[in-house]
Amino acid sequence: MKAIIGGTGIDKDKRFLEGMERIVTKYGETYYSVFDGIIYLPRHRPGHSLPPHMINYKANVQGLIDLGVDELISIYAVGSITRRLSPGRFGLVKDFIDLAYSRENTFYDGSTRDFRCTPFVEPFDRKLGALFARNAVTAGYAIAMDSVYITTNGPRLETPAEIMAYRNMGADIVGMTLGTEAALLKEAGIRNAAVAYSINWAAGLDAEGVSFLEDESIERLSDTIISIAVKTLSQC
Ligand code: HPA
Repeated sequence: MKAIIGGTGIDKDKRFLEGMERIVTKYGETYYSVFDGIIYLPRHRPGHSLPPHMINYKANVQGLIDLGVDELISIYAVGSITRRLSPGRFGLVKDFIDLAYSRENTFYDGSTRDFRCTPFVEPFDRKLGALFARNAVTAGYAIAMDSVYITTNGPRLETPAEIMAYRNMGADIVGMTLGTEAALLKEAGIRNAAVAYSINWAAGLDAEGVSFLEDESIERLSDTIISIAVKTLSQC
């Protein structure tokens, strides 16, 4: 099975809102719908009701496992730290730094006798990412490649000094969910291409403070990304 997991913006898309089903996994409940044969899982639950630090990431990923998902496009709204992926654009995430804490970010939680230190040299599926990029370019979008995503714990936004430090660490974009989710997805063996779209300049980079794209622009961007993601998943 193929799936999309999305958060801010994506979870308002009408294609996915109808026919939401609840499933109960061994880690708790999660929700999904099916559109054009592709599973959609709303990261923050329907109605965007859970903040990033309260999401049950293990239930979400276990839900994907239980539904037989082996290929996934994960979509993230982010803030821009560098010009590699500036507000209003989208692109592929190549790598990440995870600063989130107090979250369950592994299935090796003592409930099994064995464990594996999962390699993360290549955090995301290159083939699936390349197919998404090709489809985006064919549709006329100049997508940003190779962004580094830094995961903060949230739910507060960052200080300007934190953003400056993250830039020095090599991060291009900032968000609050990818690191936790990508860790579990890789442990689960799900092939995952991560797509980020920027909705603001991060703290300290915009003279007006942190200002987000208008809802309409976010809707347009997420609509574009979903269409490309659905096309990509139906080709593989
Ligand atoms: N910081 C953290 N997470 C985000 C941001 C941001 O500026 N924008 C969208 N998600």
